[in-house]
Amino acid sequence: MSLFNVYPLFDVNLVKAKDVFVYDESNTKYLDLYGGHAVMSIGHSHPTYVSNVSQQLQTIGFYSNSVQNHLQEKLVEKIHQLSGCTNYNLFLCNSGAEANENALKLASFHTNKKKVIAFKNSFHGRTSAAVVATDNKKIIAPINAQQDVDFFELGDLNGVESSLKGNDVCAVIIECIQGVGGLDESTTEFYQGLAALTQKYGALLIVDEVQSGFGRTGDFFAFQKHKIQPDIISMAKGMGNGFPIGGILINENIKASYGLLGTTFGGNHLACAASLAVLEVLEQEELLKNVQEVYSYFLKKIKGLTQVKQVKGRGLMLGLEFDFPIKELRQNLIFKHQIFTGSAKNPNLLRILPPLTIKKEHFNLLFEALEKEL
Ligand SMILES: Cc1ncc(COP(=O)(O)O)c(C=O)c1O
Repeated sequence: MSLFNVYPLFDVNLVKAKDVFVYDESNTKYLDLYGGHAVMSIGHSHPTYVSNVSQQLQTIGFYSNSVQNHLQEKLVEKIHQLSGCTNYNLFLCNSGAEANENALKLASFHTNKKKVIAFKNSFHGRTSAAVVATDNKKIIAPINAQQDVDFFELGDLNGVESSLKGNDVCAVIIECIQGVGGLDESTTEFYQGLAALTQKYGALLIVDEVQSGFGRTGDFFAFQKHKIQPDIISMAKGMGNGFPIGGILINENIKASYGLLGTTFGGNHLACAASLAVLEVLEQEELLKNVQEVYSYFLKKIKGLTQVKQVKGRGLMLGLEFDFPIKELRQNLIFKHQIFTGSAKNPNLLRILPPLTIKKEHFNLLFEALEKEL
């Protein structure tokens, strides 16, 4: 074995993909309800995406952040237009962890404080500060462990306030809907309370939209349902539809200075072309509306499956909770029914994270398979 063996792999080798389907080397077709972990937003090999990225590659694929790159400006304008979050500046990087790492670092620079508040069952990535704000001791190495993070239950405003009172907190970081943790979401009162408390105590509110952003919930960002204005919004997965790109939207009150943040690859021409193609398709194909329509259909149909204890999440960021571990069901969905789904920290939760182009008839394939398996 010459690969560093950190991933438990399904024995499937995918060689091509189109929209909501992926194909292995013997041309077996699978329905992709996992989206490569919530990454596929506009569907595999979308023609606009393929054409824009290929054309960009033939023009200029990369140059560093030492020259003007007007594609970055086009990208921030388009994000402003589609999200409605106009009073934010954009810093581009390459992944979700890197987005959160930069968000936390910026919060610390801005406030000159260093403690972080995060939540039980959170996942923010595997880099230095992001991993310490992740509620999973197994992935925190001794080198990261000196970082000071207080964890609270989702919804525990009193706990958050008691920590903020110490006056050494630079940021509260939260996934509006938890991803890996299991699709939990708190109340509007809680998110608005967090926004008010961070403001009162001079800390920044970072909303991690790495998984839930770019239309996955039917809103451009999941936090928008709760009518809050985070100080920093982190993004990645759906942003590039498979091209590695991440970014943070930074409230205009937070000032930049040369060298404060930086990256070699972040915001390169190809990455911008990929993300611009995503936004173009989200808009032209009205995919946020599609998310809401298929979600309503999903909720109606799932009622017929009495073995499902609870549907968690919203839009196309969904979890089906059973009263048994889903490991075997997930295997059977892949190998007997050719349907990819996801798992979560909660062993009883089956996760559904398809491309936002999915149609009702595709979900019917899942319902038929579940009826047979349950
Ligand atoms: C909410 C959230 N934040 C951050 C990350 C880390 O992103 P990446 O794997 O691109 O570093 C993930 C990845 O699953 C995530 O779901």
